[in-house]
Amino acid sequence: MDIDRKAFLDSLGGAEAASKMDAESRADALEHRMMEELNTAIALKHGGHPVPDPGKYPTAAQVEAQIETRPFRAGAGFLMVPRSGGNVKRLPPMPENPTLIDFFKLRFTDTAYHTMQSANLAMKNGMSEEIILACLLHDVAQELIRTDHGWWGAQLFEPYVSEKVAFAIRYHQALRYYADPSVGYEYPDLYRQLFGVDYTPPPYIEATYQMVRKHKWYMEPRMVAVNDLYAFDPNVVVTIESFLDIIGRHFKQPKEGLGNDGSPVAHMWRTIIRPDQPL
Ligand SMILES: [Fe+2]
Ligand SMILES: [Fe+2]
Repeated sequence: MDIDRKAFLDSLGGAEAASKMDAESRADALEHRMMEELNTAIALKHGGHPVPDPGKYPTAAQVEAQIETRPFRAGAGFLMVPRSGGNVKRLPPMPENPTLIDFFKLRFTDTAYHTMQSANLAMKNGMSEEIILACLLHDVAQELIRTDHGWWGAQLFEPYVSEKVAFAIRYHQALRYYADPSVGYEYPDLYRQLFGVDYTPPPYIEATYQMVRKHKWYMEPRMVAVNDLYAFDPNVVVTIESFLDIIGRHFKQPKEGLGNDGSPVAHMWRTIIRPDQPL
């Protein structure tokens, strides 16, 4: 990774201040800086989010003004409009009867990293297998479309998972905006960056939150929000293989393959398989 030397020295208080530091402190500072830059690079690659900078949150009006600075709409899925710039790449072919694992390996490339880190955290925190599965699946619909991704995601998975898992996926999106100190969940800094520091969610999100808050399954989506992890930990390498048993027990893989199974959402899977198809 290339480090911007001047920016690094500036962060230490300038070249002179840096020269007065002992070698070990300077090495620590460099390591810290590299982690930060790696976090930014990973965050941009996996989800397109900038790492929030508390000193520079935009206002909701400034976020609104950014719309016409981009050649795409923010709701466009990562598979459809990559955020890394340049042309899209030819996608690897999918097997004839694709499984959820195949989608993780060949299509969910921008979101799987984040969801696997979240599911791994949920596992470490001793969550139920259904919550771990919900964490693993909670954001992958953002490959297709980002707007209302909780609802899109729940619909994409509903025929293959329990009602509780679909509930957790659908409503994690609304709960993300509301703190719950009883489980240590705070409003995310990322949202101040993404939506603006003075943003208030629209009425349907507020009404959904009020409904879910009183629901007997409230803790299911809440635990997805609690384990929703944006930070990159370079010491944690997570692969889909860690979740094969849970997927095997809780995901009803159709034998014809996702997209070929005639379910009400098969077309959504086919679109993910062939996003280059014009019609
Ligand atoms: Fe989400
Ligand atoms: Fe997430």
